[in-house]
Amino acid sequence: MAEAGVDRIDVRFDRVTKRFENVVAVDGVSFEVPSNSFYSLLGPSGCGKTTSLRLIAGFEQPTEGTIEIGGRSVAGVPSHRRNVNTVFQHYALFPHMDVAGNVGYGLRQIRPKLPRAEIERRVGEALELVRLSGFGARRVWELSGGQQQRVALARALVMRPRVLLLDEPLGALDLKLRKEMQLELKQLQREVGITFIYVTHDQEEALSMSDRIAVMRAGRILQEGPPTELYDQPVDRFVADFIGQSNFFEGVVEDPGPPVVVRTDRGVALRAPLPASGRPLARGERAVVSVRPERVHLEAPGVDPPSGWASALGRVRERTFLGDQVEFAVDAPALGHVTVRLSHRPGSPEARFAPGDEVQVGWAEEVALALGA
Ligand SMILES: Nc1ncnc2c1ncn2[C@@H]1O[C@H](COP(=O)(O)OP(=O)(O)OP(=O)(O)O)[C@@H](O)[C@H]1O
Ligand SMILES: [Mg+2]
Repeated sequence: MAEAGVDRIDVRFDRVTKRFENVVAVDGVSFEVPSNSFYSLLGPSGCGKTTSLRLIAGFEQPTEGTIEIGGRSVAGVPSHRRNVNTVFQHYALFPHMDVAGNVGYGLRQIRPKLPRAEIERRVGEALELVRLSGFGARRVWELSGGQQQRVALARALVMRPRVLLLDEPLGALDLKLRKEMQLELKQLQREVGITFIYVTHDQEEALSMSDRIAVMRAGRILQEGPPTELYDQPVDRFVADFIGQSNFFEGVVEDPGPPVVVRTDRGVALRAPLPASGRPLARGERAVVSVRPERVHLEAPGVDPPSGWASALGRVRERTFLGDQVEFAVDAPALGHVTVRLSHRPGSPEARFAPGDEVQVGWAEEVALALGA
């Protein structure tokens, strides 16, 4: 292809704001969705995810800023001309139509009319994509929740949009089915080569499926990047907390570093680097040192920690078996409460610690992060 090697952008937001009377639903947001990617908008309820999707779809118009689809501004372009389709959380299939009728609905609205044979062929292809070949004549109420969700997907995919918008499409499914559909959706996205913009408040879902994630809060994007980057280098406490689990030790910046030295409220000096694209911290500012539970080590007391390690004595309060990992809740007077996760392997020595045991918790300073509070 002539465009090979060039990073193409399917959707671009440039300082987009959407106001509803006194509510700022989307607040000066800029982001770019690369072609053929699985892109997620992740954030808590009310942060502006659905509004962002509706702006792309053309159901809402921005108050300020510009939106481009395929390199062109879509200002004034009506929804049905945008080459995007949406799958909603409540996907509302037509109950009076069979599966094929539902999937072919959009194609039958096209004017001039498409030949019947073409509609049938495209419906067949779409059903095959979502693994529902042979289900065309079924009534929608004869389908399971997961199958209904697949019909909703097929109904959108059959239109061959440039971009497919998915607003919490798995929200109505139980956990097991959700997990299955997550895998299927990601596979499907690769197979069809259509850009998926996926809205969710479920961080695990976003981490497992996305090529890139934008973490939103109160109408803004706090951080944007590949899942591993968000997990390993969160720019602030909110992102570190929202994506995965973390220990936070709160205090005041004693030395802006690098590495930053934070004097915790319990009086301990902890050293930690800043995240790759984090904002510098000022002396005297409130900050946290963040450490992922799986980065914390557990030892029997009396072992000298290596240099460059933070370490404290504590006592195991609880031990929870999680299958692949064992989680320990440790009370360490110098640090407060510390969560530790160790991978569970047969015969792994750490597994011997039990509630009541005295232990030493510690981590290499370079695996911690100093973040604005
Ligand atoms: N039509 C509207 N009129 C007034 N306010 C609105 C409208 N649509 C959304 N809002 C407000 O804008 C903010 C963002 O809403 P939005 O639906 O985009 O959130 P969301 O991130 O999708 O949340 P959820 O996870 O609960 O679906 C909320 O405060 C919401 O109340
Ligand atoms: Mg929403």
